[in-house]
Amino acid sequence: MIIEPRTRGFICLTSHPKGCEQNVIDQIEYIKSKGAIDGAKKVLVIGASTGFGLASRITSAFGSGAATIGVFFEKPPAEGRPASPGWYNSAAFEKKAHKAGLYAKSINGDAFSNEIKKQTLDLIKADLGQVDMVIYSLASPVRTHPETGVRYKSVLKPIGAKFQNKTVDFHTGVVSEVSIEPAQGDDIDNTVAVMGGEDWKMWIDALKNEGLLAEGFTTIAYSYIGPSLTEAVYRKGTIGRAKDHLEATAFTISDSLKPLNGKAYVSVNKALVTQASSAIPVIPLYISLLYKVMKEEGIHEGCIEQIQRLFQDRLYADTTPTDDEGRIRIDDWEMRTDVQARVAELWKEATTETLPKIGDLKGYEKDFFNLFGFMVEGVDYDEDVNEIVEIPGLQ
Ligand code: NAI
Ligand code: NA
Repeated sequence: MIIEPRTRGFICLTSHPKGCEQNVIDQIEYIKSKGAIDGAKKVLVIGASTGFGLASRITSAFGSGAATIGVFFEKPPAEGRPASPGWYNSAAFEKKAHKAGLYAKSINGDAFSNEIKKQTLDLIKADLGQVDMVIYSLASPVRTHPETGVRYKSVLKPIGAKFQNKTVDFHTGVVSEVSIEPAQGDDIDNTVAVMGGEDWKMWIDALKNEGLLAEGFTTIAYSYIGPSLTEAVYRKGTIGRAKDHLEATAFTISDSLKPLNGKAYVSVNKALVTQASSAIPVIPLYISLLYKVMKEEGIHEGCIEQIQRLFQDRLYADTTPTDDEGRIRIDDWEMRTDVQARVAELWKEATTETLPKIGDLKGYEKDFFNLFGFMVEGVDYDEDVNEIVEIPGLQ
């Protein structure tokens, strides 16, 4: 079939297998061009199919020659209906990994559930014996708690006061005022239940209890801070409380890993266009201004550049530098004083009329469509493609 983008609100309903494959190939080539990284050799990636998790899987496999198991939640294809992009990404990744002689298998299902945890543990037991790294990169709006069955929904709201600021609809380029009512009731707790650290700890505990963690084991999860511009709705909002919890959980996990000489890290990453971040109000306007400034400065990075730098210069460097709160920072270029001062200036000037000039709306849009395999260079979109693509190592 010929597959075209079909958008509804902040999501794209279709995705292109060839475009997704090309994205994965480009990321693999990038990692290979940067040379070997002396990293972990048996890696479990939870949230492995898109964004930072996919980049982490690619960096582990093609940077360090690691065997990888990927866990994700993606929609398989059906006759006449394309899969979700993470499905095609994972298919392309496994094909390339197997060709390179690398072990790669995947599990598609709800990572929050006991069933998927058990299936993953069994696979590690059978195939790898142990893992020496777990990358935790889930982004989800909901979580069903495995013990209570309660289904939590996360919300993106400010805390304490109404938030009012500019935002952009990146499909139309229209800049408008948004107003978001503050969190109420169980909003904060619900968001922490979904995006906080409880599930990360459950995974590590389960692996540890079964003896599946190697001596010197490390685990890493991803966080975000961002500037004062977005603070009310992000870091000091409900999602920020979840990130506080995730970051605190790293210390709890590190304590539990002491007998293994293990460690849990949080890395604070740069703001990037992913399926998760497109849904957060205000962030797309911030990102389009940030991209403009960072590209002008020659310091723009995507997920793969970020994770390559994280592994090479932080995680697997001789020493792993962290901030006062023990976090690895690869948002250092985003947070540079000159970059943020420039973004803050542009923010004041941003209107529907000025944004195409002062912001990188085109770059935002291209990155957004790229997530779904569209607008990817080197792909012939007029060509008939088979939407039914298998993931070779899917369990
Ligand atoms: P993403 O949406 O690209 O990836 C999410 C991954 O989680 C996918 O592999 C998806 O299949 C998987 N997933 C979602 N629900 C699942 C479930 N129930 N069971 C199994 N797998 C599930 O998201 P992105 O942006 O890569 O986010 C990953 C982490 O990085 C998040 O913690 C996010 O907060 C953080 N981060 C994101 C930034 C951004 O600007 N995008 C910046 C800094 C940190
Ligand atoms: Na991810």
